[in-house]
Amino acid sequence: MDATLPKSQDSSSRIFDERVLVLDFGSQYAQLIARRVREQNVYCEIVRHNISPERLLAHNPKGIILSGGPNSVYENGAPRCNPELLDLGIPVLGICYGMQLVCDILGGKVDSTPSREYGRARCHVTSHEDLFAGIPDETDVWMSHGDQVSRVSDDFAALAQTDTCPIAAVRHDTLPVYGLQFHPEVTHTTQGGTILHNFLTVVCGCEGTWHLGDFARETIERMRKQVGDGRVICGLSGGVDSSVTAALLHKAIGPQLSCILVNNGLLRKAEQEAVLAEFTNHFHADLHVVDAEDQFLSALEGVTEPQEKRRRIGHAFIECFKDEATKIEDARFLAQGTLYPDVIESGAAQDGPAATIKLHHNVGGLPDELGFELIEPLRDLFKDEVRKLGLELGLPEEIVWRHPFPGPGLAVRCLGEVTRDRLDVLREADAVVVEEIKAAGLYRQTSQAFAVLLPVQSVGVMGDARTYENAVAVRCVDTADFMTADWSHLPYDVLGRISTRIINEVKGVNRICYDISSKPPATIEWE
Ligand code: XMP
Repeated sequence: MDATLPKSQDSSSRIFDERVLVLDFGSQYAQLIARRVREQNVYCEIVRHNISPERLLAHNPKGIILSGGPNSVYENGAPRCNPELLDLGIPVLGICYGMQLVCDILGGKVDSTPSREYGRARCHVTSHEDLFAGIPDETDVWMSHGDQVSRVSDDFAALAQTDTCPIAAVRHDTLPVYGLQFHPEVTHTTQGGTILHNFLTVVCGCEGTWHLGDFARETIERMRKQVGDGRVICGLSGGVDSSVTAALLHKAIGPQLSCILVNNGLLRKAEQEAVLAEFTNHFHADLHVVDAEDQFLSALEGVTEPQEKRRRIGHAFIECFKDEATKIEDARFLAQGTLYPDVIESGAAQDGPAATIKLHHNVGGLPDELGFELIEPLRDLFKDEVRKLGLELGLPEEIVWRHPFPGPGLAVRCLGEVTRDRLDVLREADAVVVEEIKAAGLYRQTSQAFAVLLPVQSVGVMGDARTYENAVAVRCVDTADFMTADWSHLPYDVLGRISTRIINEVKGVNRICYDISSKPPATIEWE
């Protein structure tokens, strides 16, 4: 049996000392649970639900959390954990499906509820010890379930109830096993943070050793050792991930860092200038700007199918990057801003869950054949941790809070054929959207806001003349993890200003629509 931990984690390090594992039963909230645990300064990883006790013990966890999931525990083939995990003496917290599973394993009964309970519920707490220390008698919780525990064995005590769920929280009498039917990780559960804190500190005995400042110091030290006197290449996109990667490397190896910025002609308005300004203000490293607009636009000529656009862009990017990288002497290492969700979702995490569907999001990834040794300093971090780290490293808020931008850039927001003229129209309209969202003080609270140029023309009237021009869609979403998203309920006056300004200022546009679809079933991008 291989009992080693991922190579990015130095076993002598204190920050990874206390770790809690989330067993993933297919919940959309598994990553959110892990983030909430880390917010309490306890390192947390997601592992597959059927991890063996031996592999689990190799992580030396202080606690185990069983996530929710879409199945019913009584269904044939429903995912289950190894029941021995409950006998290891390691505290276990089952959430929703996780609670139903532990109760089922330990002699209880789970039934489907007459009506699915979804949303806020008032919870009556009957115990105020350990998990519920400091929680008031009445508190709001977030429920999302079709099944619930209808009976527990005599070894369990019920700790809380709602009007429709008589067993909303449980504790085992002799094993350190707890269950919550509601979701403490969701902010609508008002005392969720305290309940998780209690589980981590009172039940698991964690002190909180996970600190990003220490992470930065240790990562810088580790990269210095790994790189020696070699040279590292880092692709810059202007996004927070590549900026934080470059900032960490710059602190670690300064003049041995070379950055490459590929202008693919699909950037937002003034984006290249912004990245260059950021670079010269914050790093004093070797910078290579590749002007590849013509190359990308000719690769995209006549292409309207979204996946084909992505394929061609990905291919052109690799070509440009490779050409430039081979000009940099002695480059042995390639730095990438891979994040922990990418590692989980690609199925590459050690003991992590199987890969989920995320096919099109790896444009900009570089193939192994380039022959570089990879450096991925952010592969243990969530996006919000990367942002905090960016601030700790002194990057400006402007970069740290920039909305994500897809690798294929404006090409997937320019529906139909991607031409220089259409891109110019889109770029101007997009700049208005972002300016107005910022002016209304809404940039930080929205997750992404942008314009989409539609492949339709509509009739309008300007002055006395009839027009037949482009329609633009405005897309603005709120999301915690980009896997699900809601359309932002922007105030009408902000929408009105965006519409008026685009129609007045951007030549070639006479109609604006606001996209009010959520994900799923729509996606955030239109292509
Ligand atoms: P969707 O459209 O799938 O997007 O809801 C979810 C998030 O991923 C971004 N996105 C991409 N990022 N290459 C990327 O690097 C891509 O091809 C790509 N497609 C979508 C999107 O902007 C959103 O943040």
